[in-house]
Amino acid sequence: MDYLLVNGGKRLRGTVQISGAKNAALPIMAACLMSEGQCVLRGIPSVSDVEHLSLLLRQLGMRVERQEDGALHMQVVDEGNSHAEYELVRKMRASICVMGPLLAKRGVAQVSMPGGCAIGDRPIDLHLRGLEALGADVQLVDQGDILCKAKTLRGAEMFLGGHFGSSVTATCNVMMAATLGQGTAVIEAAACEPEVKDLADFLNVAGAQITGAGTPRIVIEGVDSLAGCEYQIIPDRIEAGTFMVAAAITNGELVLENCRLEHMIGVTHKLRQIGANIESNGDKVTVSSARHLEPVEITTQPYPGFPTDLQAQFMALLCLADGNSVITEKIFPDRSMHVGELGRMGARLRKEGPTVMVEGVKRLTGAPVMASDLRASAALVLAGLIAKGTTEINRIYHLDRGYERIEEKLAAVGANIKRVER
Ligand code: UD1
Repeated sequence: MDYLLVNGGKRLRGTVQISGAKNAALPIMAACLMSEGQCVLRGIPSVSDVEHLSLLLRQLGMRVERQEDGALHMQVVDEGNSHAEYELVRKMRASICVMGPLLAKRGVAQVSMPGGCAIGDRPIDLHLRGLEALGADVQLVDQGDILCKAKTLRGAEMFLGGHFGSSVTATCNVMMAATLGQGTAVIEAAACEPEVKDLADFLNVAGAQITGAGTPRIVIEGVDSLAGCEYQIIPDRIEAGTFMVAAAITNGELVLENCRLEHMIGVTHKLRQIGANIESNGDKVTVSSARHLEPVEITTQPYPGFPTDLQAQFMALLCLADGNSVITEKIFPDRSMHVGELGRMGARLRKEGPTVMVEGVKRLTGAPVMASDLRASAALVLAGLIAKGTTEINRIYHLDRGYERIEEKLAAVGANIKRVER
């Protein structure tokens, strides 16, 4: 298994190209299952989650081809198999996004129920509640599979709020299914994340009639079919946020290209409180920081609040603040596996329930550490960038799920980091 070696202490300087958003790419790729023609998607990042979904989509009868110019060409060639099996679904929870499109287009979807994962139990009740509201018959069948069937889906009003607020992939799934339904569907308490809006924008280019995406109320007028189309996906706000922290933690200065600050209000607000300077010129954003970092309180929330996907990276940053910070995880309360690993590097962290008290220290020290999930891995890389000595980060397949060539991008702006293959 590959690992990363990072020698800390280099100030990062230079320009980083931000990739397309993984979390927009996945549902948009799944939505191509509903299209009658070829879809050409631009900006789809080369990360292992995209590879896994491509594999699953091929099993479901789609041709998926990466072109030399980076575009992904996708077209359904065979609608015979509508079964997403455990072997692939267990590797990536977002595989659940094929459920809505399969049901809407083929009238049947059999999808293995995704299990728990490193960031806690992740139920799918909201997905199923929404699909049932549209008239689907949903059953748990053999081998932990969910079987959804519907001759016709019919528009309905529904409330998709859950215990932890709205759900991103449930909103995507139900919105996709309603696109090919009859009549008008209204989703209340919809997730407002930019990736949901991007999916709706893609569907509308393909012929759907969706309004309100990006707000808590989405209205979908069913259409008979979707056509092929070309679409450019939005930049990855989580990758951008990770590089912003990389600039701040190394006291460096990075210019991020292909960065949409309007998707990052909750993040830039906190980063400025911590002491970073952020300036934008169109989609070019410059981030720099003074040596002194202020402690802050962070609570993760659904968009436009502070994203759970940047909680771990900001924890790494706040380890070096001048004082005590408090971070509360409200979306995935068990998302704290990085706490112990950062502790191995000299961080002073105390966890109480979903809250972590972060006592700022003068320095972190390199150590062998273990990545536990995608964003936790990024936090360890960031900590390694400033730690004294060498940090060895193991299990980086987690990192590869969502970051495109992160070590190359960091090395290009001055980090001492390399991937070791073994
Ligand atoms: C998506 C993102 C993930 C991000 C998360 C929260 C993708 C592919 N992944 O994940 O990177 O961390 O949003 O911003 O876009 N919940 C239920 N019932 C459900 C579904 C979810 O109770 O049926 C709960 C979850 O356990 C969690 C909260 O709702 O507490 C939000 O989860 P959700 O938005 O669904 O996360 P994902 O869509 O899986």
